[in-house]
Parts: sequence; structure tokens; C-alpha cells
Amino acid sequence: MQENPQKIALITGSSRGIGAAIAKIFAENDYIVIGTATTDTGANKISETLQVHNPKNLGICLNVADLESIKNCQKIIEEHVGAPQILINNAGITKDNLMMRMKQQEWNEVINTNLNSIFNITQTFIKGMLKVRFGRIINISSVVGATGNFGQANYAAAKAGVIGFTKTIARELGSRNITANCIAPGFIITDMTEQLPDNVKETLLNQIPLGRLGEPQEIAKAALFLAQHGDYITGQTIHINGGMFLN
Ligand code: NAI
Repeated sequence: MQENPQKIALITGSSRGIGAAIAKIFAENDYIVIGTATTDTGANKISETLQVHNPKNLGICLNVADLESIKNCQKIIEEHVGAPQILINNAGITKDNLMMRMKQQEWNEVINTNLNSIFNITQTFIKGMLKVRFGRIINISSVVGATGNFGQANYAAAKAGVIGFTKTIARELGSRNITANCIAPGFIITDMTEQLPDNVKETLLNQIPLGRLGEPQEIAKAALFLAQHGDYITGQTIHINGGMFLN
């Protein structure tokens, strides 16, 4: 029997938090992992961490909000290991402010980094998936894309946009054996939520039936499940939030 070739997974924003946990679990499960950071130092650190599992694993510097940087990243990956069959659009930022006070720049930066980037990266990397008629696209949305949230008009709009985008590409690419799904985390312990004031964290905890914030690994396990066992799952959003939002 012919052995399955090792699959290549690209995970954006994997220098820390949820992205780092996803990169780790994929590396532990024998994928060739390409992780991205926003600096060369961050990229080198990713290479160092991931190459313990496989010398082909690599950290690359990428700004997801810049199409040229995306094309450059594609070139490096394809020269290094070939085209990824698994794409995890994880990189994201927040620039919170009440709508009445939100600056154009805060709106634009979040939409560019969290939504426009997903269009550009996906369009760039589906070409390789179409060639082999296999692909798994996993987009990291957020619970607030479904519920809205005070001070997050930009972020909630981007994350809701990611869900609509994912449903559309699931329809368009299904016939080529490419699936596309979202994971919508609730509140997960990372640098992003570390910034929240204690009283906000306390209020949040009271809304979570499981009584705690989530761990990055709990999101990573779902991403691995979709890649390994999600052959007939497409266009879906998996909510992982301790019961805070019940769909
Ligand atoms: P984090 O702030 O710890 O990590 C974000 C990652 O994205 C970092 O690696 C950062 O370098 C990268 N990044 C930021 N701007 C970038 C750019 N322009 N180009 C390339 N990479 C960039 O955040 P966390 O919490 O790990 O978030 C990961 C994803 O999960 C994000 O999309 C976030 O919106 C989403 N999310 C997080 C939740 C949480 O509670 N932590 C809840 C719901 C969704």
C-alpha cells in the first residue's frame, strides 16, 4: 500500500497564543508545519521550536495585511516544501473603541488584518489545493462575530465577515474536495485577553457555564480534528466557548 505523503499545514500568527498551540499540535501529529510571525526574530523562534519535531518545519515572517508579503511567503514555502494543503487563518488583532469614538484607522486596521487578509491568503493558497484536489481551510473567527460586543464594532464585523466568507468558499470549492470551516473561540487565555481589566474578566466568567476561560490547546484540538477527521464537514462554525454562547 502506498503511504500518504506528509501533509503541509500553514498557520498564520503562530508566534504565540492560539496559533502557537495549533502549530505545536500539528507538529506533534506529523504534519509539516509552516508557522508565521511578524518579525524575523519571531520566525526564527518558531523554526527553533517546531524543528524539534521535523527539520522541514519552518517559521516565516509574514504581514497578513500586505499582499506582497503574502506572495513572498508563498514563494518561500513552495521552494522549501511545496504547497500547503491545510491553511489555518489565525492571525488577528483588536483595536477596541466604542463605535461613537472609533477612528477610521482603528476600523481599517482591524478589517484589513482580520478580514481582507483572509481573502488574500486564501486566494493565494487555494491554487495549490486545487491542483491536488484536496484542501482543508480553517478560519479562526470569534464568538463576538455571532453575538457582537461592546467596543468591538470593527472586530465583530470582521469576524462575522469571516463566517460568511467561509460559507461561500465551502460552496464554491466543495466539488474539488476542499473544505472550509470556522472555529469561533469564546474567551481564551492569551495575550489578547490578558489586556482585559479584572472587572471585565469577572463579568465574563459569570457568563460562562463552565466557569473558566478556555486554553489555547482547546482550540488547537478542534483545528486538528477538522484537518484529520473533518472530511464531510464544510461551511460550519464550531463554537468553543465553555457554553457562554449557545447557538
Ligand atoms: P495573540 O494576540 O496572542 O496572537 C495573535 C497572533 O497574530 C500573533 O502571532 C501575532 O503576531 C499575529 N499577528 C497580528 N497581526 C498580524 C499581522 N498583521 N500579520 C501577521 N500576523 C499577525 O491572539 P490570540 O488570542 O492567540 O488570537 C488568535 C486568533 O484567535 C485571532 O484571530 C483572534 O481574533 C482569535 N480569537 C481569540 C480569542 C481569545 O479569547 N484569545 C477569542 C476569539 C477569537
